[in-house]
Amino acid sequence: MENTIIIGLQWGDEGKGKIVDLLAPKYDVFVRFGGGANAGHTVRFEDKHFALHLLPSGVIHPNKICILGNGMVIDPFALISEIENLRIQGIKIDGNLFISEKAHIVLPQFQILDKLRERGNISIGTTGKGIGPAYENKCSRLGIRAGDLLYERTLKEKLKNLLEPINFLIKNYYREEEISIDTIYSNLLNIADKIKNYLVDVSALINSFMGFEKKILFEGAQGTLLDVDHGTYPYVTSSNCTVGGAFTGAGISHKKVKKVIGVVKAYTTRVGKGPFPTEISQPLSDKIRNRGNEFGTTTGRPRRVGWIDLVGLKYAIDLNGVDEIALTKLDVLDEISDIQICTKYRERGTEIYSFPSQFEILERLVPEYEILSGWLCPSTGIKTFEELPRQAQKYVEFLEENLKVPIKIISTGPRREETIFK
Ligand code: IMP
Repeated sequence: MENTIIIGLQWGDEGKGKIVDLLAPKYDVFVRFGGGANAGHTVRFEDKHFALHLLPSGVIHPNKICILGNGMVIDPFALISEIENLRIQGIKIDGNLFISEKAHIVLPQFQILDKLRERGNISIGTTGKGIGPAYENKCSRLGIRAGDLLYERTLKEKLKNLLEPINFLIKNYYREEEISIDTIYSNLLNIADKIKNYLVDVSALINSFMGFEKKILFEGAQGTLLDVDHGTYPYVTSSNCTVGGAFTGAGISHKKVKKVIGVVKAYTTRVGKGPFPTEISQPLSDKIRNRGNEFGTTTGRPRRVGWIDLVGLKYAIDLNGVDEIALTKLDVLDEISDIQICTKYRERGTEIYSFPSQFEILERLVPEYEILSGWLCPSTGIKTFEELPRQAQKYVEFLEENLKVPIKIISTGPRREETIFK
């Protein structure tokens, strides 16, 4: 049994897409289990760039099966346009894509509401893709599931129950224009035709693949510190991006998974608002952002940049039961003379080694650092650990010793071959 879960251990954008892409030849089935079109990554393959938001990265590999789990919230219009764009680029998506009939549908009203809420007192800096409202409506039991698109008559009734109060809010509280339920209904009926052939009971399908010894890779989206329960609440997304999300979001047993790979960037980034203890100020942040091309794939926003944070990483490793780490973007630190590593926090004179739950504490604590001298020479494209500059090796060894998890993959550039397997 080789089934594996890949999870981001920071605030997303750790470079999970490249790691999935590297491991893809070993797996048969690729499953997304949470989030929606808030995720985004560019996968490079034979000099082509593919922008993915909803589909798993495995989709660009020939003869692989791709699954969107029940834990996802899916904008059907965005999904069809993603599929059509990939088709234009020569990627075949027929017979190999399956979507859970239990996944919830993101409606245009959710995106409107998501953006309107950002004008309020607490702005999260969301992607504006309607993710929060979609999960809210799932929990309120008024949501529309992908399977509902097949039942024309009851769909209308469900849409009314869901959207009448939302339209009321948009019109009377936010004083914005509502979208008529009839318009949504007819648009959904049109798109339903394009989606219905993909709909299945995903849990049963994955379990039957497991019965046939197919190797399955569960692709986490976002990152541990954005998890709605365990992240820096309320500055989080609305799904469980930790391993538990894979079990509920794909409908499989924890006993069927052999390994958890945690993806960690050699420094830290965060998009949107919220506490970020190791955040770096300008001009150094600009230097790292530009070298690492740290701009959001979904929204184009510049990512905030910080040092690596061992307190946050140990918390993420424990939460997810991480077996091994893939360290990405090591080469982005090539020109940094002093590299800082946060090993603990100090709060009102007391040392803290655990990750606080309250954002008020996270905002005021002071990170304490070990400083390692940088390597100040190119490491881009290096393929063996032995060839890395000695100081870069020391950085990796320091992380490994402190995190107590083996670092098995080191990425030294965006291309597949720019990778070290330890
Ligand atoms: P939402 O998921 O759009 O509701 O956004 C909530 C928070 O999660 C915001 O700070 C977003 O920037 C962040 N976020 C959501 N998806 C991603 C992602 O894929 N990478 C990094 N940050 C994300």
